[in-house]
Amino acid sequence: AATSPRLTVIGTGYLGATHAVCMAALGHQVLGVDVDAAKISRLASGEVPFFEPGLPELLVKALESGRLRFTTSFPEAADFGDVHFVCVGTPQRAGSFAADLSQVEAAVTALARDVRRRALVVGKSTVPVGTAARLAELIRSVAPAGDGVELAWNPEFLREGFAIDDTMQPDRLVFGVSSPWAEQRLREVFAPVIGQGSPVLVTDPQTAELVKVAANSFLATKISYINAMAEVCEAIGADVHDLAVALGLDARIGSRFLRPGLGFGGGCLPKDIRAFLHRAEELGVGHAVAFLRDVDEINHRRRARTVDLVRELAGGDLRGVRVAALGAAFKPDSDDIRDAPALDVANALHQLGARVRVFDPVAMDNARRAWPTLGYGQSTFDVASGADVVVLLTEWSQFREIDPEALGTVVGKRRIVDGRHALEPARWRAAGWEYRALGRP
Ligand code: UDX
Repeated sequence: AATSPRLTVIGTGYLGATHAVCMAALGHQVLGVDVDAAKISRLASGEVPFFEPGLPELLVKALESGRLRFTTSFPEAADFGDVHFVCVGTPQRAGSFAADLSQVEAAVTALARDVRRRALVVGKSTVPVGTAARLAELIRSVAPAGDGVELAWNPEFLREGFAIDDTMQPDRLVFGVSSPWAEQRLREVFAPVIGQGSPVLVTDPQTAELVKVAANSFLATKISYINAMAEVCEAIGADVHDLAVALGLDARIGSRFLRPGLGFGGGCLPKDIRAFLHRAEELGVGHAVAFLRDVDEINHRRRARTVDLVRELAGGDLRGVRVAALGAAFKPDSDDIRDAPALDVANALHQLGARVRVFDPVAMDNARRAWPTLGYGQSTFDVASGADVVVLLTEWSQFREIDPEALGTVVGKRRIVDGRHALEPARWRAAGWEYRALGRP
């Protein structure tokens, strides 16, 4: 439609690139903006700089349609857009639990300086509650259009590996707005998504910011809850796998995010719970979320426990032990190795003297770059060849489908630690493997 707002997406990392491509696919005119010229030129030539199923094809289509372009120019973005989405990263600050907001502040300032007409700036990045209010103040003081530029918050809940579906058909849309006009603009932008049935929750910006942080904290807590039960199971010889199935069948609990194992990693859950702890303390309500410290600690103890299991299987000493590490990404269908439990475990084994060789179907380049001291191999069978212990760290489907009999012919010893409850113990034991898993007898 002639009145449909023109969009910019500032920050073309994981979130921003996906958002820009999907918005163009929905029919909008979109300009992607980033300070990283190399990233912009790759995207402009149709190349997605990370692994996400389906996104490369959709990017090429969007470019061909003429609805998606990329630039490094903030003045161009300010001139082009009616609605500006802010999608830059908010990593953990070095030496602190706090979120580093420098990218958000820089992006908003660079944009606002040149906004000379009525516009809506929409934050999507995960931020400490209260950030929107500060940014609104910043915009008011910097933008030539002054009060004509409004700020809203629209948190993003997409999961890596499902980024397109999660953007096109989200469980919910949360609009944190300060005026009916802002709500109306957001309804126009997301009209096709709303038409597909995604519910909209309209609230104030600070509640919208909080929804995201609270949701990720809940998910992390759910994972650590079942992993805490795994610790109890280990003490009594009970089976956390069966426990999780039984708990999950209670509809009030539900089985999702109740998978026990090596725990959570990635660019979101770990840093989000820490930033929430930090922010709650600043607000004087640290006690309210103090349990998140336990959630973080339970999560890390699973990594240490996995290392212990490998050591136990190896006979108590890891020095010189050949370990085949299957998986590097923080979860399957991703090449993301940020805070990856898999690489943490592989590195700990290496530190303890094991001769570790890692294989991952897609995260190899990222892993090599970040952890150059580890050994790497070409395939499952390559790294397993001659191994004293195999340890499964990321539950890629190709690892689930390994034939224990075939793998048994190449290893030195038939011993496996299943860090993700991805394999069938009975099948592996029948093939003569010593099988160990977290929280299982
Ligand atoms: C998460 C949130 O799900 C998403 O809504 C938010 O926008 C960003 O953070 P993502 O980081 O892509 O998404 O990964 P997710 O699929 O949530 O998995 C997080 C971690 O938890 C992974 O390391 C995964 O292996 C682990 N996990 C997940 C478990 O250990 N057990 C489970 O039952 C589920």
